[in-house]
Amino acid sequence: MRILFIGDIVAKPGREIVNNILPEIKVKESIDLVIANVENLSGGKGVTRSTLKEMQDAGVDFFTGGDHIFWQKEVEDCFQEFPLIRPANYPSTCSGEGYKVLDTGRNGSVLIANLIGRTSFGGNQAYTDDPFTLADKILSDTENLDIAFSLIDFHAEATSEKQAFAYYLDGRVGAVCGTHTHVPTCDERVLPSGTMYVTDAGMTGNIDSVLGVKKEIIIQQYLTAQNQRFEWENTGKKAFRSVIIDTDSKVISRLDRISD
Ligand SMILES: [Fe+2]
Ligand SMILES: [Fe+2]
Repeated sequence: MRILFIGDIVAKPGREIVNNILPEIKVKESIDLVIANVENLSGGKGVTRSTLKEMQDAGVDFFTGGDHIFWQKEVEDCFQEFPLIRPANYPSTCSGEGYKVLDTGRNGSVLIANLIGRTSFGGNQAYTDDPFTLADKILSDTENLDIAFSLIDFHAEATSEKQAFAYYLDGRVGAVCGTHTHVPTCDERVLPSGTMYVTDAGMTGNIDSVLGVKKEIIIQQYLTAQNQRFEWENTGKKAFRSVIIDTDSKVISRLDRISD
């Protein structure tokens, strides 16, 4: 099975490049399953029914989240209506689920889980549970199921936490794909016990920006040390950032595209 994992799709430019190139990539790369992180899908903040539907129509099969997934009120309905998960280590009072087992037909069942890191994160992440032991719990809760492949989207800031998390799970899950920083890393590799890993898939969105936000706003934030109202950049070059995971040959490779 060949899985395409797309890093944080950010706002309209991110959706546009997915619409423009995903159908072609799926055919060219013989992709069986497309998973995308969508915490910034709608105007940079969370998801809506219409933007998730737009991505399904473009060919995305499954959606993962992060710290921004709860921004829009309708996310609660989206969790019911779409194959969408949120970080499992949020409090149980939150809507949505942290993992799902997806029946992919001839390729069998795929366990997809979403966890969030706690290092250098700040804010509400202080209230999340330990992602390491919660990953253990997810694996033990699903150990009697017939799972062909398992993938975790580990949504975290610190590269050290991401690497430690992947080594902790090495040999116990098929792949750990990092998200959240919006900056792609070129360290995709197979760990000693066989888990395929990348620290961050990167951002699918406008790259003439600071992580998707208008650069002038972020520069101003640093100049003044005061919070600014974020506006997402809609003009300029766009990137498509992803990795392809070949579960049979055990190869993880980066697939990036840049367009105007
Ligand atoms: Fe993000
Ligand atoms: Fe995030």
